[in-house]
Amino acid sequence: MARIVGAYATSHVPAIGVAMDQGKTDEPYWQPVFAGYEASRQWMEDLKPDVAIVVYNDHATAFSLELIPTFALGCAERFPIADEGMGKRPVPEVVGHPDLAWHMAQSIILDEFDLTIVNAMEVDHGLTVPLSLAFGQPDAWPCPVIPLAVNVVQYPPPTGHRCLNLGRAIRKAVESFDDDLRVVIFGTGGMSHQLQAQRAGLINPEFDNRFLDLLVDDPEAAAAIPHVEYLRESGSEGIELVMWLVMRGALTPRVTEIHRHYHVPASNTAVGHLVLENQD
Ligand code: DHB
Ligand code: FE
Repeated sequence: MARIVGAYATSHVPAIGVAMDQGKTDEPYWQPVFAGYEASRQWMEDLKPDVAIVVYNDHATAFSLELIPTFALGCAERFPIADEGMGKRPVPEVVGHPDLAWHMAQSIILDEFDLTIVNAMEVDHGLTVPLSLAFGQPDAWPCPVIPLAVNVVQYPPPTGHRCLNLGRAIRKAVESFDDDLRVVIFGTGGMSHQLQAQRAGLINPEFDNRFLDLLVDDPEAAAAIPHVEYLRESGSEGIELVMWLVMRGALTPRVTEIHRHYHVPASNTAVGHLVLENQD
């Protein structure tokens, strides 16, 4: 049987990808950001997962306002890197795991979540920046990746509670797959940030750290945070944090916190990072 062996959550700030691609990680601005990812890079290297499920959001790259799936599961053989307007990032193409992805679609849809099945999709910084942080700069990503895109761009995004329950359905799906796969799950996006209008540049470390504490120890309370509170406290793009709840739901009720990193600022956001393992 397949099982979830660890969870990796991180912000996906595009400038982090640019800093890595351009060899700037040792510069004084970036050094404290990347220092917080060294231990978890080693953790990932030791873990050697067979597959990564990456819960992320598309930023009007693969999907536009013409088509807005709430939850979209990537079932393709491969996912090309998107050109977001500045050329493609020089990172390897993402190779999928169609067998596990189709099994997940079957299990999760029959569990009454109406996933959108995606057979062709380019992936943007929401997915590639977390892969770069976790795996560094290899010639090929070390494992296949199943993208799960969550709409956090156009209101209404899913509730935190719905996201936590989707994570539970993901765990059930993984644990009913016959092959002995060791699966790591990523939650991405956040932390507090607002990219436009009067409050552009908003960062709220108190909210962010409370969210990290709740996510680890009281995920039901984190899941009860309403959209209006994310908006007010963490800025308009802070709503990306609901994706961390999908990751958390895929873990056991109690978890061990392996690693945490929080740094302000990186570009316009606070950077947050958590590594968790199942306890039960
Ligand atoms: C920034 C952060 C994001 O999450 C994003 O998707 C785009 C830009 C930023 O801080 O610049
Ligand atoms: Fe984003």
